[in-house]
Amino acid sequence: MTTGCRDSHWRVLIDMEKTAHISKTAARVSLDDFLAELDSYTERVPLDRLTALLRRLDISLDDVIDCARFNDERYQRNLLRSGSAYHALILCWRNGQRSPIHDHRGSSCGVRVLKGVMTETLFDVSANGLIFATSSSELKEDGVCGSQDSDIHQVSNLQSDERDLITLHIYSPPLHVMGTYSLISGNVGEFADPVFEFCHGDGI
Ligand SMILES: [Fe+2]
Repeated sequence: MTTGCRDSHWRVLIDMEKTAHISKTAARVSLDDFLAELDSYTERVPLDRLTALLRRLDISLDDVIDCARFNDERYQRNLLRSGSAYHALILCWRNGQRSPIHDHRGSSCGVRVLKGVMTETLFDVSANGLIFATSSSELKEDGVCGSQDSDIHQVSNLQSDERDLITLHIYSPPLHVMGTYSLISGNVGEFADPVFEFCHGDGI
């Protein structure tokens, strides 16, 4: 666990090696059981519960391949499943695609890498109101991380050789509108990131 970009909030960042260690000592959870537990919530799932479940999740890319749809223009968010307290999304990133620099207002967000290496850059707000990057790290396949509320970050696919990136994101409650940030302005924008529904409820 690492300290987050705000004192009042915290983040979870688990690298692949730590995740592998945890996987050996904790019971694995099938995708069906994972989603059933999320379905049981009627209110926000705490971030530590989300990341613990994601670390134990027994999943392969084949389990969600029908939802893995790419867009050559920008990264794409595909709905795997929705419940009263969450969205489960499969995010597909062509090489070079990046998210906006954004926060997670009112939501817990857990991420697990299904294919490739994800680069996450964390930001904090300086004394003059502009944001600055505090760190960047790579999360390999099966790696898990989490963000919530005012945590600011950017996710990127910066791999070599045109490799794609696929990630599983659980947002609780669903993150319909995120705050977006610029390196050259203190203004905070709002962005409703589209969600594509190709496979809602199918085959799970
Ligand atoms: Fe995020």
